[in-house]
Amino acid sequence: MSAAVDTKVDLGGISLRNPVLTASGTFGYGTELAPFLDLTRIGGFVAKSLTPQPRIGNPPPRIAEAPAGMLNAISLENVGVEAFVRDKLPALPDGVTVIASVFGTEPAHYAEVCKRLAGVPRVAGVEVNASCPHVKAGGIEFGQDPRALAELVRTVKRATGQPVLVKLSPNVTSIAEMARVCEGEGADGLSLVNAVQAMDVDVARRRTVLRNGLGGLSGPAIRPIALRMVWQAAQAVSIPICGIGGIMTAEDAVKFLLCGAVAVQVGTANYLDPAAAGRIADGIAEYAAEQGFPRVIDLVGALESW
Ligand SMILES: Cc1cc2nc3c(=O)[nH]c(=O)nc-3n(C[C@H](O)[C@H](O)[C@H](O)COP(=O)(O)O)c2cc1C
Repeated sequence: MSAAVDTKVDLGGISLRNPVLTASGTFGYGTELAPFLDLTRIGGFVAKSLTPQPRIGNPPPRIAEAPAGMLNAISLENVGVEAFVRDKLPALPDGVTVIASVFGTEPAHYAEVCKRLAGVPRVAGVEVNASCPHVKAGGIEFGQDPRALAELVRTVKRATGQPVLVKLSPNVTSIAEMARVCEGEGADGLSLVNAVQAMDVDVARRRTVLRNGLGGLSGPAIRPIALRMVWQAAQAVSIPICGIGGIMTAEDAVKFLLCGAVAVQVGTANYLDPAAAGRIADGIAEYAAEQGFPRVIDLVGALESW
């Protein structure tokens, strides 16, 4: 890490020692990957999305390779908020910044998880996973329907005083509209994007590769889409943005910062190299030093126009 560069950033009231987090669902509850990466070397990690009760996800096959990425349909599998607070958080080393991700099929479920997390000192903030089907809105994802999204953000903001990041779905026509909805309801920041809805077919068996049929595409395949969405959202709102999608190297992460993201999350890359986020954090500082930026924050939105 380059000592001369100030790497600190503020993500909607969550202060991070550097702008690199690991993405929800790809880093377990932190303890699983702690032997491979000193978690105090990165900005922090976002835990697997939590529901009020423990859940088992979809049956296998629920994960598959895709060109330049992977497909997953893990769904809601998690230990539940109670076990997270009781067993997972205390097992983490000191000094690790933890963002809890929350998930549900109704706004009330999200609020329940947020209320349980509200007084927990180790939780720096919550990330609202808006890529869940809203049961009362006919199964459409919260993040795909401006009204359902507004209701969700409003409900969560009432339930917690902790910083609230809203993680947006890329499966929309206008990401700018969804970003504005969140800002209007008081979201402290945005995380984007979640996995892109996708599928694959096994021709020998003449059936879908994933038992669930549909899954989420992640990894380098989605990076140009994610960059475009971060850039569009950054033009539309003034709350901070955390960029996610196919980040494998420091150079990839810098692209998101230049497009307006204050921080980034590393997801699929963790499956190839559990220490990827540490390497990316160091590389961003080196890039800033080489380019003559004394602070990483000065890279944010520093895209030159033609
Ligand atoms: C196996 C797997 C499980 C995931 N689980 C969650 C989850 O529980 N909550 C969530 O918000 N996103 C989840 N995601 C999405 C990632 O956090 C991330 O938004 C997405 O994979 C894009 O980033 P990437 O291309 O760097 O992986 C999951 C992704 C994968 C690959």
